[in-house]
Amino acid sequence: MKGLILSGGKGTRLYPITYTSAKQLVPVANKPILFRVVEAIRDAGIQDIGIVVGDTAAEVKEAVGTGRRWDVKITYIQQDQPLGLAHAVKISQDFLGNDRFVMFLGDNVIEGGISGLIREFAGSDYDCQIVLTPVDNPSRYGVAELDPETHRIIRLVEKPRNPPSNLALVGIYMFDECIWGAVNAIKPSWRGELEITDAIQHLVDQGYKVHPYVHRGWWIDTGEPDKMLEAMTWSWTRSSTASRAT
Ligand code: DAU
Repeated sequence: MKGLILSGGKGTRLYPITYTSAKQLVPVANKPILFRVVEAIRDAGIQDIGIVVGDTAAEVKEAVGTGRRWDVKITYIQQDQPLGLAHAVKISQDFLGNDRFVMFLGDNVIEGGISGLIREFAGSDYDCQIVLTPVDNPSRYGVAELDPETHRIIRLVEKPRNPPSNLALVGIYMFDECIWGAVNAIKPSWRGELEITDAIQHLVDQGYKVHPYVHRGWWIDTGEPDKMLEAMTWSWTRSSTASRAT
C-alpha cells in the first residue's frame, strides 16, 4: 500500500494564525500536524508516501525533507491550483499506479492512529473505506447517511445545509484502483472543486464496496481557525496534565 497526504491549498482560512506558514505545519502539542500524519502512516507500515503540495510547497519541502528522519520515502506532487481533493488524487495517479492507498488530509489527526484501519482494509475485499465520526456541526463537513438496518451508505453530501445525519467524513480515506474511474467521472461542485465526497458517492452508485468505519475517539481537523485553537487548547491541556503527573 502507498500513502498520499494532501498538503496543498492556501491555508487562507487560518489568517492570521498561518500568515507565513502552511496550515499543515502549525504545531499541535509542539509538533507540526503534518509530522503527526507522516508518523501515523509510517506506524501503519507504509513507507512510500506522496505529499501533494501547493503554494506553500517550499516550506513543506524544507520541513519534511526526504522522509529519512521517519524511515519513509517522500515523493512531492505539485498541484498548481487547489481544485479539490479529487483533483489532488487525479494528479497523483503516476505516483500511485494501481496500488491500494490511504489518503490522509494533512490537517487531520485521529486518536489511536490508523494501523487498525489499514489492517482492516488490507484484509478485506472493500474497494474503499471511509471514516465517519459524530459531530455537533455536520454542515461544515462531508456528511454520510447510513441505512439504519444494514449500516450501508445511502448517500454522501459535501457541506450540506440540511445534514441528513451527524456523521462527518474524517479526512482519512482508503481506495483501490476503482477510484480512477470515479475521479474522472465527476464534475466540479458548486464551490468549483472536484470533491472526493462526490467521487465516493459515484463508487456507491456504481455498486462498489464502500465500507463506512465509525470512529469513536477524538478527531482534530485544524482546517478552520476555531478548530486550530481548539486543537491547541487540547494539546496545552494534555501537556500540562502530563507535566503535573510527573
Ligand atoms: O476535514 C474533513 C473534511 O475535509 C471532510 O469532512 C470533507 O468532506 C472534505 O471535503 C474536507 O473538507 P475541507 O473543506 O475541510 O477541506 P480543505 O479544503 O480544508 O482541504 C483539506 C486538506 O487538503 C488541506 O490540508 C489542504 C489540502 N488540499 C485541499 C484542496 C482543496 C489540497 O492539497 N488540494 C486541494 O485542492
